Amino acid sequence: MSAIPNLPESITRDHPLPADSKAPYAANVQAVINRKPETEHLEHIHGSSTNGIHTNGNSKTHSAAWQLHDTPIENQRPIRVIVIGAGYSGVYCGIRIPERLRNCELVIYEKNAGVGGTWYENQYPGAACDIPSHSYQFSFNPKPDWSALYAPSWEIRDYIEGTAKKYGADRFMKLEHEVKDCEWNSDEGKWHVQVKQPNGETFHDIADVLISARGLLNNPQWPDIDGLRSFGGEIMHSSKWNTKYDFKNKRVGVIGAGSSAIQIIPRLQAIEGCKLNCFIRSRTWISPPLGQASADKMGLGEQNEFTPEFLENIKNDPKAWHDFRMTVEADANNIHAVTLRGTPMQQGARKAFEDGMRTRLAKKPEYFDHLKPNFSPGCRRLTPGPGFLEALVEDNVHFIRDTISRIESKGVITTDGTLHEIDALVCATGFYASAAPPFRTAGLDGHELKHHWHTRATNYLSLATDQFPNHFFMLGPNGAIGEGSLTMMIESTGDYLVKCIRKIQKENVKSMVVKPERVRDFTEYCDEYFKTTVYMDDCQSWYRKDGQGRPSTHVTGLWPGSTLHCIEALRSPRWEDYEYTYLSPTNGTSARINQLAWLGNGWSTNQLREEVRQEELAFYLLPLFQERELGVPLPGRPEENVQFELRPWSY
Ligand SMILES: Cc1cc2nc3c(=O)[nH]c(=O)nc-3n(C[C@H](O)[C@H](O)[C@H](O)COP(=O)(O)OP(=O)(O)OC[C@H]3O[C@@H](n4cnc5c(N)ncnc54)[C@H](O)[C@@H]3O)c2cc1C
Ligand SMILES: NC(=O)c1ccc[n+]([C@@H]2O[C@H](COP(=O)([O-])OP(=O)(O)OC[C@H]3O[C@@H](n4cnc5c(N)ncnc54)[C@H](OP(=O)(O)O)[C@@H]3O)[C@@H](O)[C@H]2O)c1
Repeated sequence: MSAIPNLPESITRDHPLPADSKAPYAANVQAVINRKPETEHLEHIHGSSTNGIHTNGNSKTHSAAWQLHDTPIENQRPIRVIVIGAGYSGVYCGIRIPERLRNCELVIYEKNAGVGGTWYENQYPGAACDIPSHSYQFSFNPKPDWSALYAPSWEIRDYIEGTAKKYGADRFMKLEHEVKDCEWNSDEGKWHVQVKQPNGETFHDIADVLISARGLLNNPQWPDIDGLRSFGGEIMHSSKWNTKYDFKNKRVGVIGAGSSAIQIIPRLQAIEGCKLNCFIRSRTWISPPLGQASADKMGLGEQNEFTPEFLENIKNDPKAWHDFRMTVEADANNIHAVTLRGTPMQQGARKAFEDGMRTRLAKKPEYFDHLKPNFSPGCRRLTPGPGFLEALVEDNVHFIRDTISRIESKGVITTDGTLHEIDALVCATGFYASAAPPFRTAGLDGHELKHHWHTRATNYLSLATDQFPNHFFMLGPNGAIGEGSLTMMIESTGDYLVKCIRKIQKENVKSMVVKPERVRDFTEYCDEYFKTTVYMDDCQSWYRKDGQGRPSTHVTGLWPGSTLHCIEALRSPRWEDYEYTYLSPTNGTSARINQLAWLGNGWSTNQLREEVRQEELAFYLLPLFQERELGVPLPGRPEENVQFELRPWSY
């Protein structure tokens, strides 16, 4: 499971070194190579002493003199990372960590038998994404042949799995391995993790860095209703669907009117002989399809599935394909104003939603008054729900607004005393979003995350929290988005975390933990930011939940800003927002730690390879680096470089 150091194949393939060009370099470095400096650091890390660094911070030695660490400046000391989860987030980690780090042992534990996370688990009828698929994929692996604008769940799962295989992330995955417990050991600077394997036994693993990519909507929340357990029929949560159950000729209760219920109801309604009781206690907006503007520009109308001609064109015409992607992405990033109260875009959305709902509910116009909320569109997750309103007005569907008082063996009893007899009950009742994981995570001094987040999942930039060193989150609290591409935010977070791991590795950092003051600052920022947004209207939403899955007055689900805002915020870590401890040197000093020990022995790794290659010694002249990293300045007026206009340079 090791991301072993090797030059990217592309360099050797694209720029082969002439046979005789190694000689001068080889001669110059031969003596150094013979010295066998501590570059042979590929052995397993547990408890070992490497690169002059001891992994036990309490070690005492006798000499007071500090000595250079005999290692090249890159200081690629061995490091081990555990990632929890193999959905979009975990797969991204499984691609970027081995790509950008060397000597990093990586393992991704996934409790399910397959890859895909949300899209592996949610197999209810009608499960599909609600933003255009082309804006819900990895930027580097675009799929030209999505079958539909809102691709079905199985297709997204296949795509994530295919991406994991294509880029080798599957090498690091251990499926059917469930993380049960995580504990930080301050003396060692390591996470101790208990993992349940397929045979049911639990084993113990250790890592320097722990990344939680366990999903923000992965822990199902069953409704808190008296008698739920006494129900005598078939019962299922939307994310734990019983695909074998035959709904034909059944009386079915569906609880909820969130995005899941809205996709489920039209499918069940269409099943022969199926009678639906829909328990919808709260009002909600049903939007036109998200991304409809892009669809309109491309002449797709309201059709969801692409025609063979459209797909053929996209496949054969790279420009058309690029333009298509640019349109979808730009449109998604152009509706941020809809999330702000009172903006013309928000007012326009309200009008459009009202008109659309009235039209779709024409068969039973009174339903519009039952459903129309007082809050602004967007306060809850916008739900396009193709076919939902149309299904709701059908004769085999009973729209029940009374709240549920209890459940008994035969069915559901509402507050008016009616027993609604049913054969099956579907709970589309959401998830414990923004709550601590269901397994124990203990940080400094055994402090548990579930206590830390008891009232609120306080965090720093969605990706860390105080008192939990070397622990990072992909799509943590405040990590999601109400509009725009979530996958770009996943990529931005992953890139940030790779930089953190590299810092920990390179600078001999034993622990890196965000300062409580910065968590406080981010929390304050969030609260102030959200004040003027529609998310603070009076609605029920998983965007506003406390640490235990209960409604909260604070927005804990969403990033405070747009997708583009998030990308820029995470572009370059503010290292000063963290506290650090460092590994003690063992090369003869009991004196203080030198934080610049990573400067090493004056050599760079490229000069110390067994077989030195020209490309390594003069890499900065390769077009690859000139173009990508350094950039070729525009003659005369370098400030007019379009790259810096599109994306202003930042520190
Ligand atoms: C039905 C549904 C539809 C959605 N549709 C959209 C959409 O259209 N657009 C959008 O932007 N977002 C959507 N979302 C949000 C969606 O969750 C994210 O977009 C994205 O898929 C999250 O990816 P992830 O990898 O972070 O988490 P997940 O996909 O949830 O993956 C987390 C993984 O971690 C694993 N895991 C959890 N705990 C453990 C453990 N203890 N040990 C080992 N493994 C563990 C899980 O099994 C899972 O595989 C939807 C969510 C749901 C529930
Ligand atoms: N791509 C998609 O289209 C899609 C599909 C599914 C999910 N998702 C994502 O996943 C998120 C969660 O969606 P979700 O629908 O699973 O959950 P949700 O949005 O949290 O909705 C849960 C629903 O269950 C209801 N509910 C909970 N307890 C209840 C009770 N005791 N009695 C009656 N009703 C009860 C809620 O009513 P109240 O509102 O009154 O609390 C709400 O309508 C979405 O917001 C979205 O981000 C996306």
